[in-house]
Amino acid sequence: MPSITVEPCTFALFGALGDLALRKLFPALYQLDAAGLLHDDTRILALAREPGSEQEHLANIETELHKYVGDKDIDSQVLQRFLVRLSYLHVDFLKAEDYVALAERVGSEQRLIAYFATPAAVYGAICENLSRVGLNQHTRVVLEKPIGSDLDSSRKVNDAVAQFFPETRIYRIDHYLGKETVQNLIALRFANSLFETQWNQNYISHVEITVAEKVGIEGRWGYFDKAGQLRDMIQNHLLQLLCLIAMDPPADLSADSIRDEKVKVLKALAPISPEGLTTQVVRGQYIAGHSEGQSVPGYLEEENSNTQSDTETFVALRADIRNWRWAGVPFYLRTGKRMPQKLSQIVIHFKEPSHYIFAPEQRLQISNKLIIRLQPDEGISLRVMTKEQGLDKGMQLRSGPLQLNFSDTYRSARIPDAYERLLLEVMRGNQNLFVRKDEIEAAWKWCDQLIAGWKKSGDAPKPYAAGSWGPMSSIALITRDGRSWYGDI
Ligand code: BG6
Repeated sequence: MPSITVEPCTFALFGALGDLALRKLFPALYQLDAAGLLHDDTRILALAREPGSEQEHLANIETELHKYVGDKDIDSQVLQRFLVRLSYLHVDFLKAEDYVALAERVGSEQRLIAYFATPAAVYGAICENLSRVGLNQHTRVVLEKPIGSDLDSSRKVNDAVAQFFPETRIYRIDHYLGKETVQNLIALRFANSLFETQWNQNYISHVEITVAEKVGIEGRWGYFDKAGQLRDMIQNHLLQLLCLIAMDPPADLSADSIRDEKVKVLKALAPISPEGLTTQVVRGQYIAGHSEGQSVPGYLEEENSNTQSDTETFVALRADIRNWRWAGVPFYLRTGKRMPQKLSQIVIHFKEPSHYIFAPEQRLQISNKLIIRLQPDEGISLRVMTKEQGLDKGMQLRSGPLQLNFSDTYRSARIPDAYERLLLEVMRGNQNLFVRKDEIEAAWKWCDQLIAGWKKSGDAPKPYAAGSWGPMSSIALITRDGRSWYGDI
């Protein structure tokens, strides 16, 4: 039986017929139910403004649940229980009068959790309408990304929500924070004195963070083209990973202690100079190429595309953190669509031993690496140097892994999807895995200066073939510092 107790709530999902809700949120709620982590009295209220009857919409949600959970993983008893919790209500999010029926449906017995899987532009209006009918009393609101497209617009959204809800009841989603291995970063760093003593510029030479996706735009051109890879991935997911690697040990595990430390890192990020824009940052856009042996179109040939677009689908950059711990330790970030494989990993490169006694020709390979694989094959591997075995090998060195593969080690356990953990934590009232207002704004501030620099320079993104690791200049970016991207990639 689960050791976690969760209070009953009414979970109201705004935008319940959208892609995110159907693909991620309902399946996550189903899995929580299957794991016994929803209170018996918890109810799920699907809210949308599409025409159609309650029956039709519920049937649609059930069909999609089968699709995304997978028929073989659906347990009929759990499904029945889940469907009993679920109801649907037609609400036009901008119409105050529609919230009267919502308030009646919600009642006042249990806490309301309002999840906004809608464009951020309507968050303020939803909050206002909820408060008009008294639904802001103990309610927690969950805000999906993207919250704005720059510091200004993000402030506007945050301020609009803040008029009706205190920060302690606002949960901003970055789904990377719910991933199992990302959670493990905290355990790895702060439960092992082995690493913490080495975690600074005395022992670490540089850090790589790669988040590569095999897919292209997948019918999301309209959204993506306004955002680009910097806003879509770096501003949130990659900067959050950077913060978890770079932050100082928090005083405790409370949400604010952790978030205080993350904000300090964001504020210490060195702005990128106009000169750095050409040497430290690479923007790319994919052209036609291959994925899994099939020809695939370029970004400008995707469905509904604007053939003049100069939006980037790839970014590689070198970030520097201005503090004692990280002075002189570059963080190389790289993320792109239509890469050869889906891969999210962090590689911590330790410095060479300070006094070198082995054969000079082996010198280049001497350094320990800690590889944290977020997906796929979640796990941690520490590359250590050992001696080659055999009488004829002398003191020939080789690098080998000390490995912890999560799915092998915890064979019985299914690795939960990030959204399962995040939804559970909202129900438990734990803000640890959610992004605070000042955090998101500090991240925007740093990204805004980059975007402004790009705009000023007018340089077009560099082309790269779909199915490759990005433009050649992303290799030059790191080789210029005498390094290379880790592994066979
Ligand atoms: C989302 C981005 O936040 O993260 C998408 O908007 C991206 O463009 C996705 O595909 C990647 O998430 P994951 O969990 O598949 O790495």
